[in-house]
Amino acid sequence: MKGKRYGGLFSMLSATILAAGLMVGSGFTPAQAAGPGPEVCANCHADAVKGYQATKHSTKTDKRTPANAGACSTCHGDGTAHVKAGGGKGAGGIINPGSKTLAAEDKNKTCLACHQADPRRIHWQASVHAGRDVACTSCHKLHSRDDVREKLTQPQVCFACHKEQRVQVNKPSRHPILEGKVSCADCHNVHSNNPKQMERGSVVETCYQCHMEKRGPFVHNHQPVTEDCTICHQPHGTTIANLLKSRPPFLCQDCHSLQGGGHPTQFAGVPTGPAPGTGQAGTVGRGCLNCHTNIHGSNSTQNSATAGRFRR
Ligand code: HEC
Ligand code: HEC
Ligand code: HEC
Ligand code: HEC
Ligand code: HEC
Ligand code: HEC
Ligand code: HEC
Ligand code: HEC
Ligand code: HEC
Ligand code: HEC
Repeated sequence: MKGKRYGGLFSMLSATILAAGLMVGSGFTPAQAAGPGPEVCANCHADAVKGYQATKHSTKTDKRTPANAGACSTCHGDGTAHVKAGGGKGAGGIINPGSKTLAAEDKNKTCLACHQADPRRIHWQASVHAGRDVACTSCHKLHSRDDVREKLTQPQVCFACHKEQRVQVNKPSRHPILEGKVSCADCHNVHSNNPKQMERGSVVETCYQCHMEKRGPFVHNHQPVTEDCTICHQPHGTTIANLLKSRPPFLCQDCHSLQGGGHPTQFAGVPTGPAPGTGQAGTVGRGCLNCHTNIHGSNSTQNSATAGRFRR
């Protein structure tokens, strides 16, 4: 059945709009869809009309909007028969892009006819969300407040499907996501095909947006920091301070097995032998960060053999 009943509208939209390559991004005038206007529908759908009028879709001065392409008909198809029938669910072949029975791909076509060329959605089809049949309307509301675009309400929309992240962002160490200071969309472009749908091409570039001081350049770089912040941090939330995945020395020992050669001795008090062991070495050795204070990279040029080890 998919695409049959709704074929008319979609082929109209895709043939005339998509094929012509005319899209929101390129300042196009959309094709006119036929059907009764908002004033007719308002008789029975006052709220839907009011909601529509509150969005940019109803802006007549913008030539690219549905307001200039048949208004309600752009997304719902020609409502003539629906009105004649006195309305009703599916009556007169009226299309509801929010309907559960319509395939995601078909729902999305309506939107993508205009939004495909937006730079943020150009790779939508290759995104994990598109691949899992998530529809534009799974997140967006067209006639009421669009919660997913408000920082404070956005997480709730995501949590409907992402339960694990709900648990994570409630942990003691976390980004201020629930407070609306950092949003999921600050780190994720959910319309993209980037790995993990990162807002920027990579994790580090995404984090640098707000944590610029971690970018360097440093005289001494710490390799994992330049590679991927999530080697040490779980950005949604953890039970350990500073969003760390585990505590030092364990965090560090994933890579620095100081067992064999032992921790180098430089002066009295610096641990010798296997760092996190027993005795003095153990006590001091556990607090790697007590000495290696600039773990993200350091700029010390003086006495760099020792200071360079992220110690100043
Ligand atoms: C840009 C596309 C678009 C335009 C234009 C549009 N709608 Fe909608 N409409 C939707 C989507 C998507 C839904 C599904 C629910 C939602 O997103 O709010 C919907 C839902 C509805 C519903 C409710 C169905 C339900 O779920 O109960 C009605 C009624 C409706 N629209 C009427 C209208 C009327 C009347 C107009 C013109 C004033 C209009 N729509 C313009 C996309 C659109
Ligand atoms: C005479 C009243 C009336 C008029 C005029 C009317 N509708 Fe409806 N419409 C209804 C009723 C009743 C429903 C069923 C609502 C329900 O069951 O929740 C409905 C349902 C809808 C739905 C949801 C369909 C579905 O299958 O989920 C959409 C979309 C819709 N109308 C759009 C429109 C548009 C667009 C217009 C103007 C072209 C319009 N309606 C004019 C009465 C009307
Ligand atoms: C006829 C073309 C057209 C169609 C079809 C269309 N849109 Fe839009 N949409 C626009 C234009 C134009 C804007 C305004 C863009 C801007 O201001 O940069 C817009 C804006 C938006 C916005 C931002 C609204 C705001 O108030 O800032 C969202 C979200 C959106 N559209 C989602 C959708 C979804 C989801 C669908 C499918 C149900 C859809 N659009 C269908 C043309 C369209
Ligand atoms: C997983 C949830 C989700 C899905 C699915 C989704 N969006 Fe969005 N959308 C968002 C969020 C969050 C924002 C606000 C932040 C941003 O721009 O990334 C947004 C913003 C937008 C905007 C306005 C801001 C802008 O970037 O111009 C438009 C237009 C839009 N989406 C269209 C679409 C269309 C079309 C689809 C389907 C192809 C879609 N969205 C699917 C979550 C979603
Ligand atoms: C500070 C940046 C940041 C914020 C804010 C953020 N994320 Fe993430 N998210 C990431 C990074 C980085 C990854 C990839 C590494 C990982 O899997 O831990 C990721 C991964 C994910 C994944 C994939 C997990 C997997 O195991 O594949 C989902 C789903 C997700 N985030 C959802 C969300 C939701 C929902 C929100 C808002 C409540 C959110 N994220 C907020 C940075 C962020
Ligand atoms: C309708 C359900 C649904 C909603 C709502 C939703 N997602 Fe997803 N999302 C999925 C599915 C399904 C996947 C595929 C992986 C999985 O099963 O977790 C996914 C995957 C992801 C991934 C991982 C991408 C990758 O490359 O592994 C991220 C990040 C993500 N979503 C973020 C978000 C954010 C942020 C929001 C809210 C703005 C959101 N999602 C809303 C269903 C949803
Ligand atoms: C949109 C801006 C933004 C982005 C992007 C961002 N952060 Fe943050 N980050 C913040 C804010 C705000 C805080 C809280 C600062 C405060 O509470 O004083 C924070 C705090 C932190 C903290 C300290 C947490 C604590 O317990 O004190 C770490 C670690 C962190 N971020 C890592 C990351 C990583 C890793 C990324 C990339 C995956 C990232 N951030 C992306 C804004 C951001
Ligand atoms: C090798 C592990 C490691 C990597 C990789 C790493 N960090 Fe950290 N990060 C830490 C440790 C350990 C702390 C706690 C520092 C302390 O207690 O003095 C920390 C603390 C932070 C803090 C909060 C304190 C501060 O210095 O502002 C932020 C923000 C932060 N990291 C961001 C990042 C970003 C962004 C990246 C990626 C560019 C990153 N980290 C990569 C280990 C790491
Ligand atoms: C993902 C692996 C990884 C993790 C986790 C990690 N490091 Fe490193 N670290 C490296 C690599 C790779 C180098 C560079 C090794 C080299 O140049 O011989 C390095 C170098 C160092 C150096 C020597 C720098 C120099 O000037 O030679 C110190 C000190 C150091 N790390 C401390 C730590 C501490 C403390 C932690 C825990 C907070 C930690 N590292 C976590 C991979 C890691
Ligand atoms: C009491 C201070 C102190 C503590 C605690 C400490 N270090 Fe060091 N670390 C140093 C000094 C000083 C050097 C430089 C030694 C040299 O250049 O010979 C160094 C060097 C290193 C190096 C470079 C080794 C090499 O062969 O180049 C690594 C890796 C390292 N530390 C990791 C750690 C880890 C992991 C911990 C926690 C288990 C830790 N350190 C705890 C002071 C300390």
